Amino acid sequence: MKIAVAITGASGIAYGVTTVRELLGGGHSVDLTISDSAFLVMEAEMGINVKDKEQVVAQLWQGHDNLCYCDSGNVAAPMASGSNAYDGYVVVPCSTGTMGRLSAGTSENLVGRMVEVAMKERCKLILVPRETPYSTIMLENMTHLSRAGAIILPASPGFYHCPETIADMVDFVVGRILLQLGIEERPGPSGWPLV
Ligand SMILES: Cc1cc2nc3c(=O)[nH]c(=O)nc-3n(C[C@H](O)[C@H](O)[C@H](O)COP(=O)(O)O)c2cc1C
Repeated sequence: MKIAVAITGASGIAYGVTTVRELLGGGHSVDLTISDSAFLVMEAEMGINVKDKEQVVAQLWQGHDNLCYCDSGNVAAPMASGSNAYDGYVVVPCSTGTMGRLSAGTSENLVGRMVEVAMKERCKLILVPRETPYSTIMLENMTHLSRAGAIILPASPGFYHCPETIADMVDFVVGRILLQLGIEERPGPSGWPLV
């Protein structure tokens, strides 16, 4: 499969990093963009120096020639065009700021344009918000996008599989994303009930 992924500046950058890692590891092609705010959150959550974006990408997903990273300011990137076919589009995590812009249809950067393309081409689109609590405006934005065809998949890990590590909880959410994309090989629990 060929998947377009955007990582934006909500907490839970690990969800995005792991989604891309699983896709690449499964032999899928990934076109990736990362918002400027996501790099800041990455610095806070992962303790890495994000001055050189290309180097960060190389460090996080090294050794994969099926990854194409595009700067979020590059609205001429492949994922900005409906002429380039993708099997799915994922924004993970999806900040509420990005959600608001997506709901309004203001494609201000490559993330916005990517989602605009996914929607106009009627492609599978998965948005993974992480915020708590939600304001009415956030809920209305998500409802608007859901009605327009997006799958709202909140970063809400379950506990019934008795996670022992943060990675287990991240895998739960990533597994749900891959399930929505129709990918058989995925991390996390395979079903419920487990006993
Ligand atoms: C450390 C940190 C954590 C943040 N956590 C969240 C969050 O969980 N959810 C969210 O929607 N925004 C969060 N934000 C705020 C967004 O990064 C901010 O709204 C930003 O403008 C989003 O930009 P983007 O949508 O272009 O990535 C966080 C910011 C920082 C610095």
